Amino acid sequence: MNVLMVCLGNICRSPLAEGILKQKCKEKGLDWEIDSAGTSGWHVGELPDPRSITTAKKNGIDITDQRSRKFVAADFSHYDLILAMDSSNYQDINKLAPDEASKDKVKLILNFVFPDQNRPVPDPYYNNGFDHVYGLLDTACDRIIESYRHI
Ligand code: 4NP
Repeated sequence: MNVLMVCLGNICRSPLAEGILKQKCKEKGLDWEIDSAGTSGWHVGELPDPRSITTAKKNGIDITDQRSRKFVAADFSHYDLILAMDSSNYQDINKLAPDEASKDKVKLILNFVFPDQNRPVPDPYYNNGFDHVYGLLDTACDRIIESYRHI
């Protein structure tokens, strides 16, 4: 499985999601390729937000090897699953999809926890809430592994 986590800036939510899913795959011996990207490109080349780094570290995960990059249409050919953090990311990703098969790869990450509810992972950039985001993503990553580990 090749999985891409996507948010707006690729400095707060999707780096956490990448770090969490990588850690779980490592623990379970799953050879998945996992990356993250942002729809905006505003923070390209930057480290994750210090608050994401701290929250990950508290949970035993080092995400300081990550650098922000922009989501590109070529990602549709490499990734099997493209996980958007909110509906705005979902729409921006879909605008770049070359065909219907590509659109089918795009899912809202919290629909793995709350099916069909289209709930967002709240953007913690302006209001903190990084621990809450971590908890949501941790549960979502467990469900993603349950859904795809035998495929
Ligand atoms: P993220 O959070 O999409 O979870 O990385 C944000 C990061 C930066 C900005 C907004 C959201 N920004 O406006 O620069």
